[in-house]
Amino acid sequence: MLRLSPLFLALTFCLYPIVCYGNVEVSVLMEIKASLDPENKHLTSWTETGDPCSGSFVGVACNQYLKVANISLQGKGLTGKVPPAISGLKCLSGLYLHYNFLTGEIPREISSLNELSELYLNVNNLTGEIPQEIGNMISLQVIELCCNKLNGTIPSEFGSLNKLNVLALQHNRLTGQIPRTLGDLAMLERLDLSFNRLFGTIPINIARATKLEFFDIQNNTLSGYVPTALKRLNSGFSYNNNNDLCGSTFSSLRPCTDLDATMINPLEPFTPTPNTTIPINIPQSANIMPHCQRTHCSNSPNLRRVGIIAAIVTVIAALTVTAFVAVIIHRRRKQRIWSKSETPDHKFGIQESSGKSSDYSCAWDPTQTSPKKCGFCVESNSLQSFNLEEIESATRYFSDANLLGRSKFSAVYKGVLRDRSAVAVKCVSVTSCKADEAEFTKGLTLLTSLKHENLARLRGFCCSKGRGECFLVYDFASKGNLSEYLDVEDGRNAHTHVLDWSKRVSIINGIAKGVAYLHSDTDKPAMIHRNISMEKILIDQQYNPLITDAGLLKLLADDIVFSALKVSAALGYMAPEYITTGKFTEKSDVYAFGVVVLQILSGKSNLTLLLRAAAIDRRFDDFIDKNLEGKFSESEADKLIRIAVMCVDEVPENRLTMEDVIRELTVSV
Ligand SMILES: *[C@@H]1O[C@H](CO)[C@@H](O)[C@H](O)[C@H]1NC(C)=O
Ligand SMILES: *[C@@H]1O[C@H](CO)[C@@H](O)[C@H](O)[C@H]1NC(C)=O
Ligand SMILES: *[C@@H]1O[C@H](CO)[C@@H](O)[C@H](O)[C@H]1NC(C)=O
Ligand SMILES: *[C@@H]1O[C@H](CO)[C@@H](O)[C@H](O)[C@H]1NC(C)=O
Ligand SMILES: *[C@@H]1O[C@H](CO)[C@@H](O)[C@H](O)[C@H]1NC(C)=O
Repeated sequence: MLRLSPLFLALTFCLYPIVCYGNVEVSVLMEIKASLDPENKHLTSWTETGDPCSGSFVGVACNQYLKVANISLQGKGLTGKVPPAISGLKCLSGLYLHYNFLTGEIPREISSLNELSELYLNVNNLTGEIPQEIGNMISLQVIELCCNKLNGTIPSEFGSLNKLNVLALQHNRLTGQIPRTLGDLAMLERLDLSFNRLFGTIPINIARATKLEFFDIQNNTLSGYVPTALKRLNSGFSYNNNNDLCGSTFSSLRPCTDLDATMINPLEPFTPTPNTTIPINIPQSANIMPHCQRTHCSNSPNLRRVGIIAAIVTVIAALTVTAFVAVIIHRRRKQRIWSKSETPDHKFGIQESSGKSSDYSCAWDPTQTSPKKCGFCVESNSLQSFNLEEIESATRYFSDANLLGRSKFSAVYKGVLRDRSAVAVKCVSVTSCKADEAEFTKGLTLLTSLKHENLARLRGFCCSKGRGECFLVYDFASKGNLSEYLDVEDGRNAHTHVLDWSKRVSIINGIAKGVAYLHSDTDKPAMIHRNISMEKILIDQQYNPLITDAGLLKLLADDIVFSALKVSAALGYMAPEYITTGKFTEKSDVYAFGVVVLQILSGKSNLTLLLRAAAIDRRFDDFIDKNLEGKFSESEADKLIRIAVMCVDEVPENRLTMEDVIRELTVSV
């Protein structure tokens, strides 16, 4: 019989991978925590003595060998930096840190993560250059770095990422040329380089990426010949707002001249017939068996399920309502229309109003010297007409006593107009608006034309150059917004803030009608709200829901939009596909609507995993708001939950449309 000496036992114990790696990873996680969350506000569940694989560390998921596989901390309000220590998590396959306020540079040490397949750092405040070493991360399938302040050039080393499927670098400050090596990416489907400062020509090689379906280079300073082969992408290719692109097969571009041929990128031979097949020579990665797969990363179904549950826990954790500390963005971009040096006679109105211009007397205050004269838009059939003076007196010169709320980009004041009607005046700093003044005015005018009993009516708007603000005048809703009716504890407000069952049902019906109206294209263009949440649903005196801010997000500057998205992600209203597609659709509104319905029924802002399970199993006692004291209709609750669950399906195609929702709601039970 083998006799084991204590020393041998101790050695075996210590070398046993789970124990050793586990200990190492906890200390790495503590380092990561200190860097991501320097004030220890959001990652308090990560503790030195805890077990990261038990599900108790928020956002951490382990594989079956108890090594950290995913870190999912999107929309968590993190204000620190991406730590070099991250390279200590050798089995990390997904790093999801998007929609936070992270600053600093992307550490080049990250490149030692050979297992990493998804890197999401989008919508943060990262600076510096993209480390070229990322080009060595052979497992990468998704690189999402959009909406940061990254500068420098796009590393040509990215061309060796054979598995890369998505490369999204839009809304940064990247300069230089588009590396021709990106054409070597045989798996690349989505390449978004829009809103950067890229120059030079589009490499012909790009068209060699055979799987490419989406290629966006809008708003750069590119010039010269656009490869004809890109035509195959159809609407998947966006190239507006560049310096001087040319190409015969693209209708909106000027034809190329001989000069364009001489201007071509010297590295790029000009081939007049780019359809000739160029031999594709994709460097095959050496037969590297990644460290983790070799030793202990194969998937066993049982433990994969644990992983999935952990992932669900993570997603649910992301649903947790976090009070967001608004971070003030210092806006540097000075927009043309607001600059003080502008000639005083500059004026613009609605270009498109085709003869109706007398009905729309909308103009920016043309003279800085008399800021009180403020042009105003009113509907043509309205007898009301306002100016800045009236708005000032309605709000008592924007007195604090009338302040209803303040957000990062606006302040809302209660006001009473001369005709004694109550209004809410939303003051939006002009620096928060999109730069294009014509689009902005046109957009607001469209919003004033929306009329539905479940939309907060935008009566009109007025922009004063003198004050540097726009004022959006809405009907006033006296009962606050729906978020004030959540998480009501027994206490002083319990009576005023618990909605009875019939009110909840009629509020849900009203919201559904309002969203369906927005989505419909009868008598108006179809619109997407983009930012549905409990806070955006106001309640009037008769407890009708009024959806506010419909379509407004589209008119605001990018950084305002990004910060709204961070909040929406943290509150759980963001549809999962938005993160990969970056596009709002009707289905993303439907998702947010579903979340709202679940919140109204449960009375809780935080839809925990347990709460969702209770909804799916129709365990009404566990799911329906206890403040109702059981006074609700089970059949109605069953129907509403069924609808809501179909709206929050992970797969957008499986979700109902708002039309379906309305139909389902009217089915009597
Ligand atoms: C990029 O930005 C950093 C500051 O964030 C600056 O120090 C650096 O010089 C910039 N690099 C380039 C190439 O512009
Ligand atoms: C995009 O380019 C157009 C035209 O040059 C410009 O008007 C617009 O402001 C740009 N948008 C952004 C966000 O830079
Ligand atoms: C390339 O274009 C030429 C002339 O336009 C045409 O004859 C040829 O069939 C095309 N080749 C391919 C592979 O499409
Ligand atoms: C990590 O995240 C990916 C993508 O969401 C998922 O497919 C995978 O199962 C996750 N792994 C674990 C161990 O949770
Ligand atoms: C982004 O970083 C810059 C400099 O690092 C800082 O001045 C700015 O306030 C930050 N903005 C946000 C939204 O965190």
